[in-house]
Amino acid sequence: MSSLLKVCRATSRLGSLRRSFAAAAIPEPDRNPDVKYTGIFINNEWHESVSGKTFPTINPSTGQKICDVQEGDKADIDKAVKAANDAFKFGSEWRRMDAAHRGLLMYKLADLVEQNRAYLAALETLDNGKPFHVAYTADLPLVIQCLRYYAGWADKIEGKTIPITGDFFAYTRHEPIGVAGQIIPWNFPLLMMAWKIGPALAAGCTVVLKTAEQTPLTANVVAQLAAEAGFPPGVLNVVPGYGPTAGAALAAHMDVEKLAFTGSTEVGQIVGRLANDSNLKRVTLELGGKSPNIVLADANLEDAVETSHFGLFFNQGQCCCAGSRIFVEESIYDKFVEASVERAKCRTVGDPFDRSNEQGPQIDEEQYNKILDLIESGKKEGAKLGVGGEKMGSSGYFIQPTVFTDVQDDMRIAKEEIFGPVMQILKFKTMDELFERANKTMYGLAASIMSNDMDRVNYIVQGLRAGTVWVNAFDKFDASMPFGGYKMSGNGRELGEYALDNYTEVKSVCIKIPQKNS
Ligand code: NAI
Ligand code: MG
Repeated sequence: MSSLLKVCRATSRLGSLRRSFAAAAIPEPDRNPDVKYTGIFINNEWHESVSGKTFPTINPSTGQKICDVQEGDKADIDKAVKAANDAFKFGSEWRRMDAAHRGLLMYKLADLVEQNRAYLAALETLDNGKPFHVAYTADLPLVIQCLRYYAGWADKIEGKTIPITGDFFAYTRHEPIGVAGQIIPWNFPLLMMAWKIGPALAAGCTVVLKTAEQTPLTANVVAQLAAEAGFPPGVLNVVPGYGPTAGAALAAHMDVEKLAFTGSTEVGQIVGRLANDSNLKRVTLELGGKSPNIVLADANLEDAVETSHFGLFFNQGQCCCAGSRIFVEESIYDKFVEASVERAKCRTVGDPFDRSNEQGPQIDEEQYNKILDLIESGKKEGAKLGVGGEKMGSSGYFIQPTVFTDVQDDMRIAKEEIFGPVMQILKFKTMDELFERANKTMYGLAASIMSNDMDRVNYIVQGLRAGTVWVNAFDKFDASMPFGGYKMSGNGRELGEYALDNYTEVKSVCIKIPQKNS
C-alpha cells in the first residue's frame, strides 16, 4: 500500500506538471462538434462518390454511428489524381508560384488550423476516441508546428553547383516529384496528415490523400481550410474510403509518382508491391514496431516507471513506436514491476471528453478483439498478469490498462504488435544478452533507455537497431527530428530535412561554357 501511494503521488506530480502547463489553456470541449464535411475533396470542391456509396464512421466511445461519409473508390481516386496532375502541369499556377509564396500559403493553413484548434481537437476525440485534453495539447500543437516547419522550408530547397571535368557548368535542381499519393492510419489522423502533406507541399508536389476509414472527419476540415488559405484547386485532394479499394487504387495508379504510407507492415508490403508493379513510383513506408524500452539498474525508479508507463499507454497504446517490451535489469526488476503495476492501477479510463481520464476507448471492434485475443494468449502462454486483462464498460471499446510480467521472448505478446494498453515486462542480466534480445524482432522503429550512466547509455545507443532512441524520455516528437524505421518498420524517414528528399527529384543540368580564345 505504501508503494502504491508513492507511485500515485509520483504520478500526480508528473501529471500535475503536464496539467499545469496545459490546464489554464484547455477550453471546455464541445462534446457534439458539428460535422461539416462528409464528402470527397477534389479541386477545392466537395463531391459525392461516383458509385453513390457511403460508409459510416463510428464513435469508439459508444460504438454508435456519428454520420455517413462519401465512400471513395477507384473512380474517385482517378478523378482526384487527374485534378492533382492538372494542378501539377508545367506552367500551372502552382508550378509557377514563387517558392516563398508556397510557404506563405502553408503558414496561412497553420494559422487557420490554430484558429480551429478546439473544434478540430473535439472532432478528433469524437471520431478517434483519444482524450480531448491530449488532442488539444499534443496532437494539435504538433500539427501546427509541422505545417509551420515545412512552410519555412519551401524556399530553402536548394541544389548545388558541381565542379565537373572540362569546360562545363554543372548544377542540380531539386524539383517536386509530381503527384504524391498518401495513405494514412487512424491513430493520429490529423498529425499523420500533417507529416504527409507538410513536406509534399513544401517541395511543390500535389497531393491525393486517402484517410483511414475509421477516422475521416478531421482531415476533411483541414482540406476545406487549405482552400480557404488559398491553395489552388487540385493541389490538395482528400479521398475518404477503404484500403483495398481506394487505397489500392492510389498505390497502383500510373499517374502517381510517389507513395507515402503509414500503417501495418502487412499492408505496407501490399502497397509496396502495387507501387512497384505499376509504375515504380517512389515509396516511403512507416510501419509497425515492437520497441524495446531498456531500464538499467541505476535509473531513477520513479521517473523510469512513469516514463515507461507513458511510453506504452499513451494514445491507448495505439502507437507504432510504443515501448511494448520493457527489459529491466535484474537487480531492480521486482521493484520496477511492483511500481509499474501500481501505476497502471491508478490509470484513469473512460469518457475521453472528461479531463480526468488519461485513456479513452480503442479505435474499433476489430482492434478491440485483436487486443483481447492477444491478452488471452499472454495468459495462456504463462505470462504473469499484474493488473487488468479485461474489457471495460457496457458500451464502446474500452480495455483495462494491462501489465504482464515475467514475459518470455517467444510469447506472442513479446513478438506481435498489440497496439493496445498492454505492457510487457521482461528481465535481463547481461549486455550481450540485452542486445541479442532487444534486436531480435523484424521491427526496428524506436527504442528507449532509462539510465543516468551516460557511458552505458552511449554504448547501448550504438547497438540498438532502431530509427529513434529516446533516453530518459519517450514519444518526444518534433517536426525537425526525423522519424522512421530500420528493418520491417519501414523505408525512409519522415519529418525534418530528410523528409524533403522523399518529395524531390534531382535534376543535373550540364552546360558547355565556350572558352575565351577557342
Ligand atoms: P492498415 O495497415 O490496414 O491501415 C492503414 C491504412 O492503410 C488505412 O488508411 C487503410 O485504409 C489502408 N489500407 C488497408 N489495406 C489497404 C490496401 N490493401 N491497399 C491500400 N491501402 C490499404 O491498419 P489497420 O487494419 O487499421 O490496423 C492493423 C494493425 O496495423 C494494427 O493493429 C497495428 O498493429 C498496425 N497499425 C500501425 C500503424 C502505424 O502507425 N504504424 C497505424 C495503424 C495500424
Ligand atoms: Mg486493415
